[in-house]
Amino acid sequence: MAMLLNDEEKAILEGSRGKALAKVLKTLVMYGETFGAERMVPISGGSGHLVTSFGLSVMKPVFALMDTLIQEGALSGQSFTVDPRPLDPRVPAGLLPRILFKVMYGKQAAYESQLRRLGLVNDQGFTCTCYMDEVGNCPGKGDILSWAESSAVVYANSVLGARCNRNSGIIELFGSIAGRVPCFGLLTDEGRRASWVVEVKTTRRPEAQLLGSAIGMRVMDAVPYIQGLDRWIGKTLTQEAKDYLKDMGAATASNGAVGLYHVENLTPEAAEQGKALIAPKAETYTIDDAELERIEAAYPCIWKDPQAEPKLCFVGCPHLSLKQITDWSEKLRAALESAGRKRVAVPTVFTSAPAVLAEFRKTQAAAFLEKAGVVTSDICPLMYMNNPLCGKMPVITNSNKLRTYTSSRYYKDEEILRKISGGKFPGKISGGAKAISGGAK
Ligand code: F3S
Repeated sequence: MAMLLNDEEKAILEGSRGKALAKVLKTLVMYGETFGAERMVPISGGSGHLVTSFGLSVMKPVFALMDTLIQEGALSGQSFTVDPRPLDPRVPAGLLPRILFKVMYGKQAAYESQLRRLGLVNDQGFTCTCYMDEVGNCPGKGDILSWAESSAVVYANSVLGARCNRNSGIIELFGSIAGRVPCFGLLTDEGRRASWVVEVKTTRRPEAQLLGSAIGMRVMDAVPYIQGLDRWIGKTLTQEAKDYLKDMGAATASNGAVGLYHVENLTPEAAEQGKALIAPKAETYTIDDAELERIEAAYPCIWKDPQAEPKLCFVGCPHLSLKQITDWSEKLRAALESAGRKRVAVPTVFTSAPAVLAEFRKTQAAAFLEKAGVVTSDICPLMYMNNPLCGKMPVITNSNKLRTYTSSRYYKDEEILRKISGGKFPGKISGGAKAISGGAK
């Protein structure tokens, strides 16, 4: 093999710790060689995180693989958190979708049992925002990770300064089991340099999910160095700034394939190294108000009836932080009061990590949401929608990731708030691309 392996790795490949681990490491070596890695590096810091959280009945090879790993004792060297569960009976769904969920995710309980035996941290570990304080899987600067969830990878790289490639599902589990990953791409200093400079020249704070979408669609899998954003979100990583970057990053990673961004004067490497992070001949992309409007207006509407009234609203993809879900509750309370209503006008689900929801449910705000008819849940909205029945429902969201992967329609936070509180909505929506008259636009 072209990769330089140490004696321990060579012995593992020859079967010193069993056939299963030999195959796991061989897979990682082949993966690394595909991307030009010359060596493996040990993973460090916190826990692993797995993207495959759902017991989809058709994933038979995955269940068989998990069984083999468990039987042969090739367990994860790290404990790990996992992406959100696909189901929650509290989330509104008709009879037919409920029957479909039972069939689709018929293996959920069996799969979760496999995850527990492999190293799942605990029953609260199902969230894509594993790095929240309440969850506790928060790596430090320079830690080497084996994660795959795109929104978590981009957050860990950019906001925490950890190092992780955009791995696939199962490959990330193999890294956790082997305790090492191939060294290439975002694990290297060179791979973390920016080949794009993004100039934010808006006249107001850009919507995080819209800015991330614009950046992702332009730079694709490159590393952008973002200038001018500190003007709107500050030079300190407060919870508010971190929440903004979480949502912006998830949009860069799903509307494009960004695994790392630097924000001048704010994110750890940019604060330390500044413009030295910019590679020679980097290209420039300028984002102003008109560019964001152009991006949003080009989102297609794939609802059968573009005029349909929404049947469901999801807020919290990626999962909301404690501050975000509290802020949403406060804003909703004010909006309902001003609309003269006690309950939401559209069935609404706020999603957040189980550990965050456990804290939130101790507060008055949680009691208010329940009274107002808002469901708080720890599911993944994408998993809920990813079937032909729910895919036909007119669903609205403030998540650009959910918009990208499903038939849901994206609206800015303020528009979502107005809609769910029964206030005046943006107005008539005309066919094809989303065209909104009046309201906030
Ligand atoms: Fe998280 Fe599911 Fe969205 S994993 S980022 S809530 S698609």
